[in-house]
Amino acid sequence: MNIAIRYYTRSGNTKKLAEAVAEAVSVEAKDITAPLTEKADILFLGSSYYAFDADDAVKSFISDNKDNIGKIVCFGTSAMMKSMRKPIAKAADKLGVAVADEEFHCRGQFGKIHKGRPNEKDIEDAKKFAIHFLSSAK
Ligand SMILES: Cc1cc2nc3c(=O)[nH]c(=O)nc-3n(C[C@H](O)[C@H](O)[C@H](O)COP(=O)(O)O)c2cc1C
Repeated sequence: MNIAIRYYTRSGNTKKLAEAVAEAVSVEAKDITAPLTEKADILFLGSSYYAFDADDAVKSFISDNKDNIGKIVCFGTSAMMKSMRKPIAKAADKLGVAVADEEFHCRGQFGKIHKGRPNEKDIEDAKKFAIHFLSSAK
């Protein structure tokens, strides 16, 4: 099974989760400026909310790489929202790209709110999520 990790971040919060997933599954995490050069059966895709939506760059990434995506597994951070799946699935569904029901989401620091998040526990939980997802996907 071919696995890829891509993320979009503005202040580094989601990058921390991407690096945790990378360590857990032994695959390099790259930002979304790196296209998928081969088919990823599983694409761990990290993103966050900015004004109640995922960034357009993330949606463009899905569109530009749709032929190389087997299934997206969302992970992400935000200040208030609890899931990235809805905006990602909205973009992916139109393109016929599958999105897993399972995802990992935690708080991300936003100014003085949620200072230090993702924290060590979030990082460990993201690793556990990725390992558990892959072991149940096999
Ligand atoms: C311009 C801007 C808009 C944001 N809008 C939202 C929002 O609508 N809902 C929310 O839960 N968090 C919102 N946040 C908080 C971010 O989602 C949160 O800080 C996230 O961890 C940022 O991740 P990043 O560092 O990977 O970019 C916003 C942050 C910024 C900078």
